[in-house]
Amino acid sequence: MSRTPYPRIASLRTADAFRAHLERSGIPLAFDDELAAPAASPLGRSIDVHGVRVGNRFCILPMEGWDGTRDGEPSDLTRRRWRHFGTSGAKLMWGGEAVAVRHDGRANPHQLLISPHTVGAIATLREELVAAHRERFGSNADGDLYIGLQLTHAGRYARPDIHDRPSPIAACANPILDRRFPNGVRVFEDAELDALVDDFVGAATRARDAGFRFVDVKACHGYLGHELLGARSRSGRYGGSLENRTRFMRQVIERIRADVPGLQVVVRLSVFDMVPYRKRADGVGEPEPESRSVPGFSVLTSDDGLESALEECRGVLRMLEGLGVRWICATAGSPYYNPHIQRPAMFPPLDGYEPPEDPLRGVARQIEATALLKRDFPGLTFVGSAYSYLQEWLPHVGQHNLREGLCDLVGLGRIVLSYPDLPADVLTGAPLRRNAFCRTFSDCTTGPRMGLVSGCFPLDPFYAARPEAVKIRDVRTETRAASSDQ
Ligand SMILES: Cc1cc2nc3c(=O)[nH]c(=O)nc-3n(C[C@H](O)[C@H](O)[C@H](O)COP(=O)(O)O)c2cc1C
Ligand code: SF4
Repeated sequence: MSRTPYPRIASLRTADAFRAHLERSGIPLAFDDELAAPAASPLGRSIDVHGVRVGNRFCILPMEGWDGTRDGEPSDLTRRRWRHFGTSGAKLMWGGEAVAVRHDGRANPHQLLISPHTVGAIATLREELVAAHRERFGSNADGDLYIGLQLTHAGRYARPDIHDRPSPIAACANPILDRRFPNGVRVFEDAELDALVDDFVGAATRARDAGFRFVDVKACHGYLGHELLGARSRSGRYGGSLENRTRFMRQVIERIRADVPGLQVVVRLSVFDMVPYRKRADGVGEPEPESRSVPGFSVLTSDDGLESALEECRGVLRMLEGLGVRWICATAGSPYYNPHIQRPAMFPPLDGYEPPEDPLRGVARQIEATALLKRDFPGLTFVGSAYSYLQEWLPHVGQHNLREGLCDLVGLGRIVLSYPDLPADVLTGAPLRRNAFCRTFSDCTTGPRMGLVSGCFPLDPFYAARPEAVKIRDVRTETRAASSDQ
């Protein structure tokens, strides 16, 4: 399958083998050799943050399924995914999935949209998650379950009407990324951003009415909220200085706090970014040439420079702390222009490239960045991301990180698509199901790139039986064959 020189995690079966590989490769990643008994596990400890109790240290990260209806309501597939979130055993639901605040901000024609028309169905979606949680863990089990909704405008990556027709509305010009949109990129006017603040506030009001306790004002992965933070070349009130680049985020948060009492605001942030990558002739990823001069937020050019790359991010966190934000979900990069940074994987998605580094390095980088920020902002509660590639070693690394205070909660993305019961199994000491671990085949990203729904086609029998599974497998085979010919 993959031609990469990195060993598969499944082959690193003992703690000694895993440690030896990390040491040999110079990857700074620590882990506990043994998992603690459930009663003593740092993963099972509750956390209290300003009156909010979350029952354990597992967090479900937001994940879209590209499976809503054309007008933005959840479908049966969406409801199935959210029920799995509910039965997973995790107690923090960071937003469920990205939900557009208005139609032109949808990243695909099947993204959920929160509007007066859809709010009832989105409320029911949350209720189904809670009901599934209670059914599995007991009728009072939701007392320490904390559920929010992620709000977004896709900005440069908007495709509201047709899956392969981009309708980008960017925060600023970007000489490299703009080249990927042959029909041009429109940039938001200041007055349009002013109006978009109102749309976020309207969406937040509806989210509260639908029963969500917090909203995530999404600022990651190259979407609008993130791109604005790096809009140095933009003129006017929303570009240039950090003060201006954070204006949109500040206004959205201040207005929600003023107009939507009772609703908490949290932020998922790409805490560092990297230059855009492209596929080299041999299929491996490489940085775009001339990419050093492109705009961006907290751009990392070499791992030695992580401390200094995070300086801008620290400025944003200071601002957020001042605004009363208490929860941060740390992520990095973008699935569009540097997927190996954002979701480390052994196998690339359709529009990706073979990994230019051991994916464990990508995991370690996000863990280290989160730890540095936790050190500097002990009053903020940090959820870490990008643990799925760790597979069998995920609980061991998570336990270590919590014990050492490197983060406050362990975020789970892809692994929940292939193995939704992982948190419950870890927390009860049940044997872990090796054949359910996400092996980072990236089909859940390839599906949407082909205009299909997302799901774990290789490992979830429900998706494996769907017609999309065959199409995705064929494309994967063709792509691999083409790259091994080179
Ligand atoms: C299919 C899929 C959909 C995703 N959708 C979202 C999303 O809606 N919002 C978001 O912030 N991140 C999204 N992500 C990113 C994940 O939340 C997470 O950051 C990433 O997968 C890395 O974590 P992992 O290693 O546990 O998978 C998505 C990832 C995948 C694979
Ligand atoms: S398709 Fe399944 S195995 Fe592949 S990355 Fe997604 S969750 Fe993991």
